[in-house]
Amino acid sequence: MSDWLSALAGPLRGDVRVPGDKSISHRAIMLASIADGTSRITGFLEGEDTRATARAFAQMGLVIEAPRPSERIVHGLGARGLRVPSAPIDCGNAGTGMRLLAGLLAGQAFDSTLIGDESLSRRPMRRVIEPLARMGARIDAEQGGLPPLRIGGNCALHGIDYELPVASAQVKSAILLAGLYADGVTSVREPHPTRDYTERMLAAFGWPIEFGPGWAKLSGGHHLTARDIDVPADFSSAAFFLVAATLVPGSEITLRDVGINPRRTGLLHALRMMGADINGVNPRSVGGEPVADLVVRHAPLHGIDVPLELVPDMIDEFPILFIAAAAARGTTRIRGAAELRVKESDRIAVMAKGLRALDIRVEETPDGAIIEGGRFAGGEVDSAGDHRCAMSFAVAGLLASEPIRIGDCANVATSFPGFVELANGCGFGLRANA
Ligand code: S3P
Repeated sequence: MSDWLSALAGPLRGDVRVPGDKSISHRAIMLASIADGTSRITGFLEGEDTRATARAFAQMGLVIEAPRPSERIVHGLGARGLRVPSAPIDCGNAGTGMRLLAGLLAGQAFDSTLIGDESLSRRPMRRVIEPLARMGARIDAEQGGLPPLRIGGNCALHGIDYELPVASAQVKSAILLAGLYADGVTSVREPHPTRDYTERMLAAFGWPIEFGPGWAKLSGGHHLTARDIDVPADFSSAAFFLVAATLVPGSEITLRDVGINPRRTGLLHALRMMGADINGVNPRSVGGEPVADLVVRHAPLHGIDVPLELVPDMIDEFPILFIAAAAARGTTRIRGAAELRVKESDRIAVMAKGLRALDIRVEETPDGAIIEGGRFAGGEVDSAGDHRCAMSFAVAGLLASEPIRIGDCANVATSFPGFVELANGCGFGLRANA
């Protein structure tokens, strides 16, 4: 068990590049693996989640070279080239890994089993099993639709037209990946548009696909052609620095090469509504993805009602938004975010409990929270093994009257290896295993 102690070392300063985007890194390994030819991935996230995905494909016969950190050379086996894995595939902590793999494996000629760690083993999989079964897949789960998932091979899949009950890029992607192996047309519609990396990357690898905000459509039986992928820095990892530099007086940080896909940057809008001073400079396109450097300076924040339409575009950023809200003047109201209860932890409960332990007034609701801005006391909080909650509480420590001890932080390595060193280089006073 790894605990952290967080306090402020000084105003935050720095010019940093946070690690590569997790969502894009997962997809890059997957699509390069089933493409014809060799793809080079640069900026790959060396996190436990994305490494687990790379290991999954190595188990299925892929040769994946790692010539240097954050680089992978994937010798694709083609859409029908994967081999039967000799053991269950361990997705670790990664919901994205498991759900996307479920779709991709449903179309293979062999049986497979997907397992995960304690947190992943509690996360709902019926949301992918149900549409995949409609396509003709055979997937058994534990009671309640929980992992492990046992996926039957040699199913003749057929396309479906599916309206997602919840806005989920993972579910959408699982269906599209199964659709590669299905007869006929597979189409998906979402209640709110979600991140479209699977669609963009399929198109980049040459698979015919039509898509727009909230919908996508493809047919089976085509080919993917290898290509190189440059993964931008992960906006969700940059988010901790955006909020930290906003909250600590005298701070200024530049975050380099950050992916600013509009389906990911809801937090930028929310923070600007709250009064933040964040500028995107040097906007450009990297491998078809919008990227910019983000310059953030200290600014006082005030509470807001988070607009409902922003929720899917900032779904991974609520833990750090809780911290921004707790440090803002006035009240912040979050609703329409019930999905937070089925992430790596129940993020509404974990953040509310932690903030209360730090003397912040928070009212939990079924789909959000009402947070009264105040001053953080020092104290002890539990991240519940959730990487984003751990890093969020580390930011609270910068403003607390006494240091904050944060429990169970080891899973930060799933998405942000090197967080402690990078943060301390900017002025955090973080001690691991303190
Ligand atoms: C992801 C989709 C989101 C997000 C997760 C990554 C993806 O999950 O929370 O961190 O890469 O597709 P949902 O699809 O469950 O909303």
